[in-house]
Formats: sequence, C-alpha cells, structure tokens
Amino acid sequence: MTTFPVINMEKLNGQGRAATMEMIKDACENWGFFEVVNHGIAPEFMDTVEKLTKEHYRKCMEQRFKEMVAKKGLEAVQSEINDLDWESTFFLRHLPVSNISEMPDLAEEYRSVMKEFAAQLEKLAEQLLDLLCENLGLEKGYLKKVFYGSKSPNFGTKVSNYPPCPKPDLIKGLRAHTDAGGIVLLFQDDKVSGLQLLKDGQWVDVPPMRHSIVVNLGDQLEVITNGKYKSVMHRVIAQTDGTRMSLASFYNPASDAVIYPAPALVEKEETRDLYPKFVFEDYMKHYLGVKFQAKEPRFEAFKNMENTANLGQVATA
Ligand SMILES: [Fe+2]
Repeated sequence: MTTFPVINMEKLNGQGRAATMEMIKDACENWGFFEVVNHGIAPEFMDTVEKLTKEHYRKCMEQRFKEMVAKKGLEAVQSEINDLDWESTFFLRHLPVSNISEMPDLAEEYRSVMKEFAAQLEKLAEQLLDLLCENLGLEKGYLKKVFYGSKSPNFGTKVSNYPPCPKPDLIKGLRAHTDAGGIVLLFQDDKVSGLQLLKDGQWVDVPPMRHSIVVNLGDQLEVITNGKYKSVMHRVIAQTDGTRMSLASFYNPASDAVIYPAPALVEKEETRDLYPKFVFEDYMKHYLGVKFQAKEPRFEAFKNMENTANLGQVATA
C-alpha cells in the first residue's frame, strides 16, 4: 500500500472481510497508522462534538492562548523553539474514573456529549484491539485483558486546538514523538490539516477526511507484539491560517498492567530479548521526561532495569 490506508469498517461485515482484515494488517505492520470510516459513530453526532468543541475553544480557551503568546513574545521569535508546542489543550479522563463532571468551564451539553462520545470511542477501541488480536493470531480479548490490569484500562481524551501560527517553521504545533500507550483514536479537523507521520524517513500528511477516525499504535503495542507492529513518530505542523481541532483519545493499559511481549509472538529464541517487561505506570513516568526523544532508548532503559533486577535476585538468592 503506497497511499495512506483508509479502512471501510462496514466491509468487515460482508464479503470484503478478508481483504479488509488484510488492509488493517498491512497498515499496522507498515504504517502504524490508518484511518477508519463507517466506524459506527454517527456522522451527525460527530458534527455535534465538533461544533461544541469549537464553541468551547472560542469561549473559554482562545483568549487565554493569545495572552500566553503575547506574554512569551512568540509572534516575534527568530529562532526555533524547542520547549513548547503551539497548542491549546485540556484533558478529559474517562477511565478508570471520569473527571468530566469536575472540569471547570464546560457547558452542560458539551459535558454530556463528551461522555457519550467517550463511551462510543471506548467500544470502537476495544473492537479495534480485537481486530488486531485476530490478525496477530492472539485469542480474542487478549489485548483488552492485558490493558485491563487489576481493574480498568486508562482511557482519556486530549482536546486540542492549534490556532493559526505566524511561524510554523520555528514553532511546531506538536513536536515529533511516538505515543506511549496502547491505541489512539483521533477525531481531527476535516479542513485544517497538519498531522504528519514519519514513514521511510519522510514526513507524510495524514489526510483530513470528514467523519473519519485516525487510528495509531503506541509503544505498548510495539512491546506486546514483540515489534511486529511499531509505534510511529508523528507531529503537528501548525497552519498559518485556520484553527485545527484535534480530539485524541488514548486507550491505554491500566497503571498496574504488566506489559511484555505476548508469548505467542515470541517464536524464535533470538527475538526473546527484543523488548522489556515492565509495569505501565513506570513506563509513563519515564516517558513524561523523554516524550520528544526516540523510543529505542526508552525500551533499552527498561531492559537494563530488568537485567539489573534479575541480577539482584540472583545475588541475594
Ligand atoms: Fe501523539
């Protein structure tokens, strides 16, 4: 596949199922990203989510962002800025416990719409995880179970707006990174583009498409699949005109979930030590400090910790 993979999920119910599963497999193996259409979330409902998100931004976020820009003198920068992103964001947590009712400034209608949107996205994320299991030859529910930990996955939505940026070459909308978690479902602006992924050393645009959901895989799926699937670097280039809306929902393992390559995917002895075993919360703590760096040293750091711990056990045995 040479163009960005678009998966029509309706085809999973009919004759086109095998070919569609094959497209998902190819997307997971070669892109780390794909876009789904006919995913079961009603287009009219997505329009409402978009309308209310944009209203909320204009009413409660825009002014604050402009003040931050003025205070830091960002309009006039002359050299590349590496310590901030040109974005205005807030985070809604859905699982294990929702914070939506405590969030300040949200209109009541927006609150209830986002709760419903989260419920539908949770279902879609779990459906997608099972499609991945099927392609990987893992039993149905395997990934969901790993992510569940002792009581619930972590699931939340980062609500972002990327306002027009006068210096997009000097300040990134969002600096390049791979996502730390499991599977990410993104409802992005259908008019203002900007999301790019790194493929074969080139930045490739993720095309805006009305009512689609962009899916991408995080570091945890790379570890669990023993590298069969990879998390992929991506970034947002802010545009000089138009505000880009982005609702990224992260379906991640529970804080206490233990992450390691699925035994069924570790076929050969030589691939056994490619990826470490760790508790997800520890990975997240480490990630926060190194988000905008390459992922490989993160995996290495945890492999080293694991080795040290094993040696410690031997020494005290
Ligand atoms: Fe990301």
